[in-house]
Amino acid sequence: MSLKFITAEQAAELVNNGDIVSFSGFTPAGAAKAVPTAIAQRAVKLHEAGKEYKISVITGASTGPSLDGALAKADAINWRTPYQSNKDLRASMNSGNAKFFDMHLSHTSQFMNYGFFGKINVAVIEACDVTDDGVIIPTSSCGTIATGCKLADIIIVELNRKHPKTLRGIHDIYQPANPPHRTHIPIYTPSDRCGEDHIKVDPKKIAGIVETDLHDEVAPFTPSDPITDKIGANVADFLIAELRAGRIPKEFLPLQSGVGNIANAVLGALGENKEVPAFNMYTEVIQDSVIRLMREGRCKFASGCSLTVSPDCLDGIYADMDFFKPKLVLRPQEVSNSPEVARRLGIIAMNTAIEMDIFGHINSTQIMGTKMMNGVGGSGDFTRNSYLTIYTAPSVTKGGAISAVVPMCAHIDHTEHDTMVFITEQGVADLRGKNPTQRAHEIIEHCVHPDYKQMLWDYLKLGGTNGHTPHTLAKVFNMHLEFANSGDMRNTKF
Ligand code: COA
Repeated sequence: MSLKFITAEQAAELVNNGDIVSFSGFTPAGAAKAVPTAIAQRAVKLHEAGKEYKISVITGASTGPSLDGALAKADAINWRTPYQSNKDLRASMNSGNAKFFDMHLSHTSQFMNYGFFGKINVAVIEACDVTDDGVIIPTSSCGTIATGCKLADIIIVELNRKHPKTLRGIHDIYQPANPPHRTHIPIYTPSDRCGEDHIKVDPKKIAGIVETDLHDEVAPFTPSDPITDKIGANVADFLIAELRAGRIPKEFLPLQSGVGNIANAVLGALGENKEVPAFNMYTEVIQDSVIRLMREGRCKFASGCSLTVSPDCLDGIYADMDFFKPKLVLRPQEVSNSPEVARRLGIIAMNTAIEMDIFGHINSTQIMGTKMMNGVGGSGDFTRNSYLTIYTAPSVTKGGAISAVVPMCAHIDHTEHDTMVFITEQGVADLRGKNPTQRAHEIIEHCVHPDYKQMLWDYLKLGGTNGHTPHTLAKVFNMHLEFANSGDMRNTKF
């Protein structure tokens, strides 16, 4: 069978109103770009003609402006899962327009496989190579697209010339069988491989190939600042103390590092501290700092779901494939984020919180309890199942008007039963083995900004010995309410 080349506009014509579309992309890395942009343009034209046109969008995680941005601006999204970080889509979701289903990333492929989302109609996959017998080589991420290609009626390939064919060999595509036939995932160290270096599809399902030459739309990271540097140093000091105490083995354990600027800075700080041994990573997102640490010999191997690096960094990897290929593997997210593998490998997980509360809960997703920021992403996959789980955050944000530590999070993603260690630039709160009141003492003493310390002691005192978790429910959200009223939590009185 010979491959059929089509334009992005012709591809968009293959996507019908009401379709469920599985796009490649885990962060903007490896995200389809030309076809979703053309679908958005088609939606605008149809809306102008008074016709309905919306699709439902499944990806690996967030994507770039050409996918989430274009489709949200065109009002072309019915529902969306599992994660996003685009400001136009965020606005659409928070106004109740695009319906967002926020879920653990390790669950997405199995939800697709089990039919929980309904029939997948179309898969759109960015590839660096495709053959006429149906072998597809993805680009800089794996996400959920192997599942999408398996389940969809038709497949559209974006053949992106920016990614070299020499990428073949970096992916490890393993797809667990559905229960009751599922077995364990045979990964015992981060560098183990258990799948194929390609996705194999029925070539008859490939409806067309769209040629592109587009960079991944990964936004540059904000350089670290004294606050993120101090958080990073506190994380490194804590891990060294654990190593010295023998609670982390001397060989060290694989690291998982979350998304965002703080995570990038924390990893940089760990790399610089030579008392932290050179490490392996078993993570979902491989960011710029990992690549730098690999060149410096501080990171030995990284297993992830995506190469979420700036365009210059990606060009550097592609120019030096002989060095990087043996040190990197990209896996589907049901493997990179697998709870089973995380528990077996004994991962040290480091993620960032929006809010922490004094009794040990974490809010990773909702601003002031109502507005979605990005989504839970993979944080829950790792928080519940890692050997050691750390949450970091600056102790205050918005010029000090918001404290990251509050009496009770206005939304809870990770509970006291899963969290272990909170770290801000102020210090480290070790919550392991402590009851709620002991946790509150540890957190207020070590993590809270001086502007909020007395306030939170006052709140704790109100509860006295009122139960196992001494909350005062009538005042539990006073800091949030004060921010809503005066724009500054520092005005709160308990
Ligand atoms: N109230 C209001 N706004 C808050 C806030 C709070 N309690 N805490 C943070 N913010 C705002 C910041 O002010 C900042 O706003 P800005 O963009 O207008 O400057 C924004 O949230 C991002 O905060 P920042 O400090 O830059 O952190 P970040 O880039 O490291 O991102 C998360 C932090 C929590 C949003 C991000 O890590 C995330 O989405 N996590 C959930 C998913 C996850 O953990 N994935 C990893 C799993 S592997």
